[in-house]
Amino acid sequence: MKCRKCGGRAVLELRRHNTAFCADDFQAFFRHHTLETIRRWQMFTREEPVLVAVSGGKDSLALWDVLLEAGYTTAGLYLDLGIFDYSRESKARCQAFAAERGARLIVVAVAETVGAGIPLVEQATRRPTCSACGLSKRYLMNRTALEQGFTVVATGHNLDDEAATLFGSTLRWDEASLARQTPVLEATHPKLVRRVKPLFRLSERETAAYAFLRGIDYIVEECPFARGATSITHKDVLNRLEDASPGSKASFLLTYLDRARPRFQAGDPVELRECARCGQTTTGEVCAFCKLADQVRRHREAAGALSPAGPVAVETDDPAGSRGLVSDLDAASEIHAS
Ligand code: AMP
Ligand code: FES
Ligand code: ZN
Repeated sequence: MKCRKCGGRAVLELRRHNTAFCADDFQAFFRHHTLETIRRWQMFTREEPVLVAVSGGKDSLALWDVLLEAGYTTAGLYLDLGIFDYSRESKARCQAFAAERGARLIVVAVAETVGAGIPLVEQATRRPTCSACGLSKRYLMNRTALEQGFTVVATGHNLDDEAATLFGSTLRWDEASLARQTPVLEATHPKLVRRVKPLFRLSERETAAYAFLRGIDYIVEECPFARGATSITHKDVLNRLEDASPGSKASFLLTYLDRARPRFQAGDPVELRECARCGQTTTGEVCAFCKLADQVRRHREAAGALSPAGPVAVETDDPAGSRGLVSDLDAASEIHAS
């Protein structure tokens, strides 16, 4: 197999593009693709400082690498979710990446704002872990960007992530989530920053290859709470389709964005106001994140009263509060999700 560009030995075949590249030309292709996506989708300008949300995984570190190499002004944001060894190791990867490149990394611990790491938040709220985690991540990305003067947050979502999300929404015909599926979530309120996904046209295999060729040390393990998630099944199904017919994944997502999404966008815009407590956006009086932090505090107080030293009992006193949280979580995810 020969590289399409230079005729040298190819290291990677890209069946959906019916092509192959050597190591250097693949990296050039990957960078060009990313920068072209940023330009074509008007994600951000050269002058705008970009906050890159980095998880320690291949996608977000590959994205940060491309932006640094291209001379963008960036800072990384690592959210420490307090998920045992997984968080410790992913944070170490982000810190090492930033230190090697002399880049700025902002670290925010969920435990400092919510009162506990994600595993205890799950116990306190009895919400599926990933939903409380997703809410906390979106909230803290937005709030940190505002506090630190960034107008845009970039995440490492890739083609496989985006196609799997679209597939899941389509299976449920979830119109709200279909309307939200976009690589550029514009800031629709002064307290929101733009959220962009510059890798959304590059596959997981391509980001892994780029990270490997660039010698980026990333965390390979998935979050322990992701095991058994339906998104993984959806990714498997799409991978089988892709094997049988290269290009299916990209065509599913890109054609949706081009032709079908406008049909789901018509609904009434949600009216946003500022949370009475923290000033971030909400559709109600108090935002979902502040309610989450309240639940965690009450849970800890109840646990402390029952057994000052011991592990925590399950909160049972406020079913109405929980219902409020569920509906507000849904509302917040409509504005900000994925
Ligand atoms: P995930 O939802 O885990 O697939 O992650 C999607 C994207 O969200 C990643 O590519 C990152 O840009 C961002 N992200 C996920 N986890 C974190 C984290 N702990 N800190 C900062 N950004 C994160
Ligand atoms: Fe949020 Fe796993 S990263 S639950
Ligand atoms: Zn709030």
